[in-house]
Amino acid sequence: MKKVQPQLSGKTAVYAVLGDPVEHSLSPVFQNEAFRAAGIDACYVPMRVAAKDLSAAITGLSHTSLKGFNATVPLKEALVPLCTKLTDEARLIGAVNTVELDGGKIVGHNTDGRGFLESLKEETKFQPRGKKACVVGSGGAARAIICALTKAGVREIVICNRTPAKGKQLASDLAHKLHGMKLGSSSLRMGELSRAFEGVSLVVQATPVGLEGRGLIPLPWGVIPKGTLVADIVYQPQLTPLLSEAKRRGLPTLGGVGMLVHQGALSFEIWTGKKPDLKRMRQVVEHALANS
Ligand code: ATR
Repeated sequence: MKKVQPQLSGKTAVYAVLGDPVEHSLSPVFQNEAFRAAGIDACYVPMRVAAKDLSAAITGLSHTSLKGFNATVPLKEALVPLCTKLTDEARLIGAVNTVELDGGKIVGHNTDGRGFLESLKEETKFQPRGKKACVVGSGGAARAIICALTKAGVREIVICNRTPAKGKQLASDLAHKLHGMKLGSSSLRMGELSRAFEGVSLVVQATPVGLEGRGLIPLPWGVIPKGTLVADIVYQPQLTPLLSEAKRRGLPTLGGVGMLVHQGALSFEIWTGKKPDLKRMRQVVEHALANS
């Protein structure tokens, strides 16, 4: 198919992704494709913004015609107090990954958790209701996924983290906010991890470990029940060391590309009120990953 170059004009709506670094972001690749496929006169550009400059950047951008932006590491948490309005979801997660700009209003959303759930729904047969999940990590991504899994009816979640105090803190913080959810925490030491993983149905790896194919957090494979779904938020490579190990053990797996594409599709919907062409978005991401 011949690729039609967008014709930028004075009427073109502009969106962005803010981060530091931002050079590796795939969001411009699939958001521009989504605008093109939908026939929307818009473009999406990367903007490097250092954490220390975020407040000044947001004030400045909110006085331009920029329509909205995504935020990535390390800006998501720092954006929360800079928004004039937050969705309940963004407030609960404590991080913003999508902003709508409208006449001086700065509305903060978080689509990461729902992006994960959409990917789970689209790509697996996993039914969250009543199940036990173990989430490895306690950063922004883990927090978004825990909130989303709670909403989807998961019964129990154990947060497994390298720094046990941080996992424990997150569990007690969320236990106050997510009424009815059984939340526990564990270190990554094998003995404790084995107890944490008893009866698990879903494992979510929500740390950067495995990025570029490097690193694998040892899991208590012996106690992980047959049929447990192993998900990794890392998408470069698509088959991470964890997913490769899970596959080798005959367990179903879910890679991180789906979450990436779905969180972006939800941002697109917030900005345009339209559902994007998910298939095209995914195709261009997979093409970019294969050629990077
Ligand atoms: P994000 O907000 O993008 O999820 P983050 O806030 O930097 O990222 O969180 C990173 C998570 O990955 C943390 O839970 C971190 O563990 P610590 O709380 O102990 O720092 C976890 N993490 C990062 N590198 C890790 C590693 N090599 N082994 C285990 N956990 C790691």
